[in-house]
Amino acid sequence: MAVLICGGAGYIGSHSVKYFLERGEDVVVLDNLLTGHRSAVPESVPFYEADVRDARAMDAVFAAHPIEAVIHFCACSLVGESVEEPLKYFNNNVYGMQVLMESMVRAGVTRLVFSSSAAVYGEPERVPIREEDETVPTNPYGESKLMMERMMRWVGQRHGIRYVSLRYFNVAGAWEDGSIGEDHRNETHLVPIILQVPLKQRSHLTVFGDDYPTPDGSCIRDYVHVKDLADAHLLALNYLRNGGESEIFNLGSGEGYSVKEMLTAARAATGQDIPVRIGPRRVGDPARLVAESQRARRVLGWMPRITRMEDIIASAWNWHRSHPEGYGS
Ligand code: UFG
Repeated sequence: MAVLICGGAGYIGSHSVKYFLERGEDVVVLDNLLTGHRSAVPESVPFYEADVRDARAMDAVFAAHPIEAVIHFCACSLVGESVEEPLKYFNNNVYGMQVLMESMVRAGVTRLVFSSSAAVYGEPERVPIREEDETVPTNPYGESKLMMERMMRWVGQRHGIRYVSLRYFNVAGAWEDGSIGEDHRNETHLVPIILQVPLKQRSHLTVFGDDYPTPDGSCIRDYVHVKDLADAHLLALNYLRNGGESEIFNLGSGEGYSVKEMLTAARAATGQDIPVRIGPRRVGDPARLVAESQRARRVLGWMPRITRMEDIIASAWNWHRSHPEGYGS
């Protein structure tokens, strides 16, 4: 039996494909390559360039392979863009989930692991954030992920699909040997942006606000290495294989790092001075987002391994300096 990885050519998807293959899993990948990269997926893996919203294509994949479970990474995931183009997010993310689940029901596939996001919580009522805390998204991206979770709950109940929803906090890093990594056309994430400075693609890092109510004034986030995230997906799949009930898990380290602390770690990891300027706050950024992720540790047995910020950034640096133009290098 095989695992269908939708969005397997993207950043987190491609690391998960590699991780699953190394652990002997049989994998099939589907990706529309709008933001994914064909070369991020090994040639030996069955690959379909298709969109989850294409019911015919989905049915054909389920007919061609004995699929036992789906790992669903496909989504538009830029917070700012989602405010500008909300319908794009509801169409791609929410409608995409609908078509995927319709096809799973037709094919009789009953296990689903889903990439959710800390964005479902919005401005947190308390930190660290627990899974049962209020979900009040502050942008269409977070709203779309919450709608996808709710769809899984209702459809799962009716059609016997069990799911695990993984609410990621901040994902960073790359495969340690530099073979695959993060490559977004319009980069917005902190770690790759910091590393553009030593790559000479950017003169300095702009810290978006240093007047937050945090010890050094810059925003605090909870960073997880992409390989530890991949591990959580495999653990979630095994949980479902062992009969586990549908469940939601936060995935974070439980430790918060400020933007300025990330900069210090990046200077140490690259051995380079990284000039910085303080800019205005970015609209919609909460001061502090840190996960309570004991549930994932207790129920799934998840234990993040790469937890030093310097190591996480060093792995990203290994990728970026060997691929300064990403997959186009
Ligand atoms: N930051 C800067 N300068 C930059 C880029 C980012 O100071 O040039 C700061 C941001 O203000 C923020 C921190 O670095 O405080 C991290 O920003 P990212 O854009 O890397 O990540 P976010 O925390 O904004 O976003 C993450 C995920 C989203 C998810 C969101 C949930 O990437 O998918 O958390 O709120 F929606």
